[in-house]
Amino acid sequence: MINKTKQTGTATLNVKGKDIEFPIMSGTHGPDVVDVKRLYAEAGVFTLDPGFTSTGSCESQITFIDGEKGILLHRGYPIDQLAEQSGFLEVAYLLLNGELPTQNEFREFAGLVTQHTLLHTQMDRFFDGFRRDSHPMAMLTGTVGAMSAFYPGAMDSSDPEERNLAYIRLIAKMPTLAARIYKYTQGQRFVDPINELSYGENFLRMCFSVPAEKYKISPTLARAMDKIFILHADHEQNASTSTVRLAGSSGAHPYAAIAAGVASLWGPSHGGANEACLNMLREIGSVDRIPEFIARSKDKSDSFRLMGFGHRVYKNYDPRATVMQKTAHDVLDELGIDTPILRVAKELERLALEDDYFREKKLYPNVDFYSGVILDAMGFPTEMFTVLFALARTVGWVSQLNEFIEDPSQRIGRPRQIYTGAAQRDFVPISDR
Ligand code: CMC
Repeated sequence: MINKTKQTGTATLNVKGKDIEFPIMSGTHGPDVVDVKRLYAEAGVFTLDPGFTSTGSCESQITFIDGEKGILLHRGYPIDQLAEQSGFLEVAYLLLNGELPTQNEFREFAGLVTQHTLLHTQMDRFFDGFRRDSHPMAMLTGTVGAMSAFYPGAMDSSDPEERNLAYIRLIAKMPTLAARIYKYTQGQRFVDPINELSYGENFLRMCFSVPAEKYKISPTLARAMDKIFILHADHEQNASTSTVRLAGSSGAHPYAAIAAGVASLWGPSHGGANEACLNMLREIGSVDRIPEFIARSKDKSDSFRLMGFGHRVYKNYDPRATVMQKTAHDVLDELGIDTPILRVAKELERLALEDDYFREKKLYPNVDFYSGVILDAMGFPTEMFTVLFALARTVGWVSQLNEFIEDPSQRIGRPRQIYTGAAQRDFVPISDR
């Protein structure tokens, strides 16, 4: 990556009576940053910013979010245009390479991905080691890490070719792995990929076809699957992506770095929110109970939060939620389903958006609000939702990891701390304690 930030000013910080100047840097869009790299060297102090609310960790040219306006761009293209007009593999190419592919480039890329969809047969034996009721994310964390044991020829992160092969393998094999995890939890036989199918079609077939009958792929559901993957493909420096960058910063190979990302995604404040959101909608159960749950979410003595609402960056409608809401209707119309869950979701959204607490705190529906409704209607159990998120986000993770490795300004990630533990003291032998 060629660094492109430009200095557009200076900021002066007075530390214990000494004025120190720092460059103010500007990017293409978004707030300027104060480059504090030299702070410790010049003033002997660190900055403290738990949760990184005011700290940028990198320069990136992949994804831009304007949380105030509700804008999400991948390589400059608005997410709604990509979701409506593009396909997941095309977006994957864009995220990885920076430009939309020509027809030839796309054919070659899609061909490469489809050549790598099969898993090593030995990997199938891992599953027997898991309990059938294991959480699918537990299996995914383990098996993605285990993939590193199968490709010793593509482990060197410093070699661009080996790295690229690892990215292609990860993008290609994630659906096969995720589908096997689902099948394992159902006690059903694994279904292998068919390369003539699209990414989304293949995944649905690997999940839902059974040997006893012919599986008919619904174009509406395949398109919805593709859109869900596009909407989850990347989201700049969130917890799991930052985890991938940090894990990769030590030179760890891509499979290990992505396994770290999977683990980070699992939590209910991040990728686990879609599962938590659907469970919440089920718990609410009917429209008349919504006020009770809204009241609980506002009560500081109650830890309950409205899942699928709020975002660290978006202080406006999450643009992914808009596409997701429309997709939910397409899927439910196709399946002829009018679920109480959808009715609860729509009414909850309406009431929360009218509520002063949610308006003042700028809490809007996020991507997870409707994705669970769609995945549930498609037949995925709630525990699988975060696995699907991880499958899609793999593209973002490998793109961000690659950018990190190619950025000459990056080094091993090593945050500092302010120590408030015991002051230095002498060891006392256990016999004297
Ligand atoms: N319901 C009720 N109150 C909320 C909610 C919510 N969902 N989210 C935030 N608040 C309140 C929070 O209590 C706090 O109030 P106060 O200022 O009075 O203390 C205020 O809004 C700010 O919240 P915060 O926790 O300081 O904000 P954050 O940026 O640290 O957290 C969040 C962002 C997404 C973790 C949080 O909004 C949340 O827990 N939402 C529910 C979980 C969810 O849907 N997560 C999916 C995020 S999108 C998918 C992804 O990127 O992984």
